[in-house]
Amino acid sequence: MKKTMTTTAGNPISDNQNSITAGSRGPVLLQDYQLIEKLAHQNRERIPERVVHAKGSGAFGVLEITEDISKYTKAKVLQKGETTKMLLRFSTVAGERGAADAERDVRGFALKFYTRDGNWDLVGNNTPVFFIRDAYKFPDFIHTQKRHPHSNLRSNTAAWDFWSLSPESLHQVTILMSDRGLPKSYRHVNGYGSHTYSLINAQGERFWVKFHFKTLQGIETITNKEAEAIVAKDRESNQRDLFENIQAGNFPKWSFEIQIMTNDEAKECNFNPFDLTKVWPHKDYPMIKVGVMTLKENPKNYFNEIEQASFSPSNIVPGISFSPDKMLQARIFSYPDAHRYRVGTHYEMLPVNRPIVEVNTYHTDGSMNYEIKEVTDAYYEPNSFDGAVEDASFAEPAFETGDVADRYNHRDGNDDFTQVTALFNLMSENQKEQLFSNIADAMDGVPENIVNRQLALFEQVHSDYAAGVKKALGI
Ligand code: NDP
Ligand code: HEM
Repeated sequence: MKKTMTTTAGNPISDNQNSITAGSRGPVLLQDYQLIEKLAHQNRERIPERVVHAKGSGAFGVLEITEDISKYTKAKVLQKGETTKMLLRFSTVAGERGAADAERDVRGFALKFYTRDGNWDLVGNNTPVFFIRDAYKFPDFIHTQKRHPHSNLRSNTAAWDFWSLSPESLHQVTILMSDRGLPKSYRHVNGYGSHTYSLINAQGERFWVKFHFKTLQGIETITNKEAEAIVAKDRESNQRDLFENIQAGNFPKWSFEIQIMTNDEAKECNFNPFDLTKVWPHKDYPMIKVGVMTLKENPKNYFNEIEQASFSPSNIVPGISFSPDKMLQARIFSYPDAHRYRVGTHYEMLPVNRPIVEVNTYHTDGSMNYEIKEVTDAYYEPNSFDGAVEDASFAEPAFETGDVADRYNHRDGNDDFTQVTALFNLMSENQKEQLFSNIADAMDGVPENIVNRQLALFEQVHSDYAAGVKKALGI
């Protein structure tokens, strides 16, 4: 027998097709609370979309650690033989919740690992670097990627104005405009933790680390022309690809690898290893294999498990920690702040965000606090009533910082060009041609003075870079 439909209070519903009206032609009676409840719920079906990375797709899977890296970290999730359930949400950055997938943009690669020490979130991208190195510039940068407040249109002029005035963006701009800026699907992107983080071993030694997830499907990309044809027919091409492949049992995999730098090496390094606009060259800091990550399960409910998924770089576990990277430091604040606004104060009580371990905080009340725990006298801390207490064994080793506070110029002593030249030099002729023509496409309508300022930056990377773009622009 079918179940009886009810209101949210569990009252049975006798008719879900006809509202209560005075006479067959209306008007409607205010006492039709079932109609009112239905309309009121619809009005609340949307939560604010993410201020960035609004369009995304996600799936659950497992991380399996196949190698022994215990000399670098005591993190349980990273010990050989450990298997951890995880969630991966891919996204584009600039487009709104209904934007097309096949757009030239950075791809978000946000991971949540449900570990035995609570959640570890690694909220990265498909690129190892970023456009800026100081979070103070992030809201302005994002404004250039979103819509012009007057025309409500995206603005190439704003994008190139900001980039040409921010030479630290060159590395990321070059990757974005290269073939990799338009992936064929989410299955065909690498994921990078991007920032430098730290690993801490059982002896309390700290190592600096970069996290890499290399796609085992291979990097595959599409051209602007191919993307135009796809978007004309299908705005959900990447969602469709991911969902259908997982439904069909074709589970995508990534090789999980790290690079390690000791504190002494960091002091000697000829670039700032905590600068998010830089990579660590592989020949100096070789890749170390750690394990494999496999996506195996589509979400049962997209809204509950993907739209409400709340990732934060602040979620770390013993054995994994932060670095002095200024951008990372700001993101540690920004994400939980976004979630408390976008999802609700107790967002981590939702099943998708909830750790698998017991949570023992003294936070109380606030929106979405639906958990009914046994009430004891230990509702504050310190207390004399056997409430949860701190455990000094989880203390991290100290790390050095500069000690004179100032607004330091983030450009001083920073070379914005050498690593971009290395990237340009490794591109094939065909990749270079794509780079030039993608930039020319993206510069459509940009005033000459801004184009020239950007060309001067390309010139500092490589004269062929500037010449190629000029030719593609017909200059
Ligand atoms: P390597 O030759 O050892 O590594 C080059 C890396 O570049 C490979 O990881 C390759 O990825 C990646 N790559 C190739 N084409 C592109 C592209 N169009 N856009 C982005 N990445 C690409 O040299 P280095 O380690 O010295 O790095 C040289 C340059 O490569 C860097 O300046 C940086 O721009 C780029 N790079 C470096 C990474 C690093 O962690 N060192 C990571 C990613 C890029 P794959 O093997 O998957 O093809
Ligand atoms: C999403 C802030 C830089 C990757 C977001 C969100 C905010 C934000 C507020 C929306 C969160 C939400 O509502 O759920 C910032 C700030 C940055 C910064 C202030 C710079 C200081 C970066 C960098 C990366 C990154 C460097 C990658 C290395 C992501 C990803 C998402 C995201 C992947 C989407 C997460 C998801 O799938 O839910 N960012 N961001 N961001 N950001 Fe950042």
